[in-house]
Amino acid sequence: MPDTQPTALVDAAQPTLPTIGILGAGKVGTVLSRLLLAAGYRVLIAGSGSPAKISLIIDVLAPGAVAMTASEVARDSDIVILALPLGKYRSIPADLLEGKLVIDAMNYWWEVDGIRDDLNDPRLSTSELIQSFLPASRVVKAYNHMGYHDLDEGPAPLGTPDRKAIGIAGGDELALADVAALVNASGFDPVLVGTLRDSINLQPGSELFGANFTASGVQDAVARFPSTERGLEVAAARAGDELLSAT
Ligand SMILES: NC(=O)c1ccc[n+]([C@@H]2O[C@H](COP(=O)([O-])OP(=O)(O)OC[C@H]3O[C@@H](n4cnc5c(N)ncnc54)[C@H](OP(=O)(O)O)[C@@H]3O)[C@@H](O)[C@H]2O)c1
Repeated sequence: MPDTQPTALVDAAQPTLPTIGILGAGKVGTVLSRLLLAAGYRVLIAGSGSPAKISLIIDVLAPGAVAMTASEVARDSDIVILALPLGKYRSIPADLLEGKLVIDAMNYWWEVDGIRDDLNDPRLSTSELIQSFLPASRVVKAYNHMGYHDLDEGPAPLGTPDRKAIGIAGGDELALADVAALVNASGFDPVLVGTLRDSINLQPGSELFGANFTASGVQDAVARFPSTERGLEVAAARAGDELLSAT
């Protein structure tokens, strides 16, 4: 009798980690690639063009990630992270993301996206907009509020005192559980901040945007949001909208 099991049997007994696709090979896309590769995930990544265009960047900044086209990444991944400029969301291959869990890490940034009222409407979170564009995908907001330097420098093992936290938002319990597991594996405490509608509390203009807080700091900022200037602006705009639709 051999004293070791055949490799195939050993592998079959291991739970398989999902393959993570990242659309966007810039600052955030490459940091997230590194974090997830370090956590043992297979990572596929794309920029806006051919894989050849990003291969050097990936070799240097995220060695081990596989450069592909955006369509190939969308097709071959189990979970896809959107890390491209929000203003380009209509270029996301929506049909190839049907049935998939999609993590929206994007923000409206006028210097990059231009002046876009559709991306800066207090009545609608930008993740609700993305969910409408991807109606057959399960969209969860995550990884958007922390700056890429903090994401890069912040990961710590579970249970580390003062471990930093990432706010996540969505309406699908199973999808939220998967994203929480991913955030945890990448080195951060996941904190549920509400539904996609509520995820406006993670967007630019909120206290959490740009923040690098622990879980209790994130929870406190979420609790304060309704009484902040931005929270009051959002509430007033939404109340006005409801009044209009009721008449
Ligand atoms: N920077 C931060 O600290 C930070 C933190 C959290 C979240 N975010 C958000 O994450 C997103 C990316 O920010 P970033 O700072 O990483 O920007 P970035 O460095 O400018 O990188 C953007 C990347 O997106 C790619 N891209 C553009 N259109 C694409 C498409 N249709 N499909 C796939 N890739 C596409 C670009 O490729 P090309 O070069 O080929 O155009 C580039 O690789 C933004 O929405 C931002 O608000 C940023």
